[in-house]
Amino acid sequence: MSDVPNDPSRRRFLLTTSAVAATAAATGLPACSSDPPPGPIDAGAVSDFTVGRVRVSPLETSIFVGRDAAGGFYAYTRRCTHMGCTIPAPSANSSLCPCHNSTYDSNGDVTRMADGFANQMPLRHFVVTFTGSGATARVIVDTSMTQVDRSNRVAPPA
Ligand code: FES
Repeated sequence: MSDVPNDPSRRRFLLTTSAVAATAAATGLPACSSDPPPGPIDAGAVSDFTVGRVRVSPLETSIFVGRDAAGGFYAYTRRCTHMGCTIPAPSANSSLCPCHNSTYDSNGDVTRMADGFANQMPLRHFVVTFTGSGATARVIVDTSMTQVDRSNRVAPPA
């Protein structure tokens, strides 16, 4: 006799989740991403980031670091606010989530919601600071602190 309760709803849940996992594996759907580890993260040297571009941090692949046209820095998560898939770096000011077709601009603002979704939040911004100065300056992203003003940009130390 089995110790597992013969609960039809539990069995249905297990069968459904197994089928979803098998389908995702068979179709090559991208895995859901996880949030970055909480706390200050060394995202790379200031010189790793090009003015006017957004890229994935070379040291923490769960975050984007952007540098605006004036050289100011900002950072935000790669985790889609729909169901958590990993978003690629923007190209021509747009990132397409590979799971359900939502799009974000280079500031992480939603430009198209996921299929069938009506209330999608923008990507979470984090507080950016620096260590060092000049050629040795490094970008520090504190993933435990939300940057509420999404237009905030931080100039690197001279
Ligand atoms: S997880 Fe990104 S659109 Fe659904």
